[in-house]
Amino acid sequence: MFKIFGLMLLFGLVFSGNKDIPVTGKTGGNVTLACEFIANRIVQVELFSESKDIDICETEECSGRVFKKAACDVVIKNLSFSDAGKYTLRVFYNNDQSNVAQQKDRIYQLHIHDEITVKTGKPLKMHVLMSIANKVEKNSSGEWTEVWKRGHGVWSDRMNVSDENLIIKAFTDNDAGTYRVLNSEGEILITVTVTESGTQSSGKLDTDKDKTGDTGEHNHWILPVGVCSGILVVLAVIAVIMWRCWPRSYRPAPVQENPESRATRGVGEPLMILPECDETAQEHWTRGDTTVIRNCLQH
Ligand SMILES: *[C@@H]1O[C@H](CO)[C@@H](O)[C@H](O)[C@H]1NC(C)=O
Ligand SMILES: *[C@@H]1O[C@H](CO)[C@@H](O)[C@H](O)[C@H]1NC(C)=O
Ligand SMILES: *[C@@H]1O[C@H](CO)[C@@H](O)[C@H](O)[C@H]1NC(C)=O
Ligand SMILES: *[C@@H]1O[C@H](CO)[C@@H](O)[C@H](O)[C@H]1NC(C)=O
Repeated sequence: MFKIFGLMLLFGLVFSGNKDIPVTGKTGGNVTLACEFIANRIVQVELFSESKDIDICETEECSGRVFKKAACDVVIKNLSFSDAGKYTLRVFYNNDQSNVAQQKDRIYQLHIHDEITVKTGKPLKMHVLMSIANKVEKNSSGEWTEVWKRGHGVWSDRMNVSDENLIIKAFTDNDAGTYRVLNSEGEILITVTVTESGTQSSGKLDTDKDKTGDTGEHNHWILPVGVCSGILVVLAVIAVIMWRCWPRSYRPAPVQENPESRATRGVGEPLMILPECDETAQEHWTRGDTTVIRNCLQH
């Protein structure tokens, strides 16, 4: 009896003393695991997830995705869904002159979120079924309904699982909403908000979108690319208008005013060669001096 009480007390202490620190990041973004720890000397910082040790780069410039910032903060960049889960940051420190380092752990619960847009009829693939994922739920009319469970699989035949992906074979209006992935303790690992993209667009844009729809990847690039193409089209239109409306006298190479010289030029000798000639030659050109021009072109 006393033993059980003692165990409970111990667990209570452990849990209250080591409460997980919630951190949230978006796919492709960064998250900082702030260590908020002050010691005279921080000897070393180690990071591990539930399944493995993680290498920490000393500086941001190195190739890894995980690096140390300030005294003992750790940044994880370019987050993906599979980064979700628990992390332990272990700080080895020294507060006196002795060579014996003490250690302190901080435990973080990393939650990843994202927004995805999918076109009706296209498949949606979400890479969210990592080994620690236990359940996927969807918010339908304010209630969370289970759509996948480890050991059982999907509940709808419109869905499928391949590798660690949850796949909706052909997206419909009803599939739009918020999906969340939970671990076996019911903690939320991932939240994905899926919206249905408009189907009214037509033509070329459609086929472009189809390509991304096939993989169901994040479509964040569509907006910037669309805006850029829009700007390019506007610039091109302005250029054409300016070209048409520009006073004729500003046009280079007064070919028509020199029928004589034109006759002496071969079909294949383009005016573009002229800028390489010196100014005298150009002057002669405008005066119609064919000899100088030929010299010039022969350069
Ligand atoms: C993530 O960190 C990198 C390097 O510090 C930085 O270049 C980038 O802008 C950050 N991205 C976000 C979304 O914060
Ligand atoms: C971010 O990670 C994804 C894979 O998760 C990779 O395809 C992409 O190239 C990475 N981006 C950067 C800037 O490292
Ligand atoms: C769940 O869905 C309802 C309506 O369908 C919405 O009002 C609510 O904000 C959603 N909750 C979450 C957490 O997405
Ligand atoms: C689910 O996907 C697997 C392979 O990824 C495939 O063999 C199977 O036929 C699919 N099931 C359905 C119901 O589409």
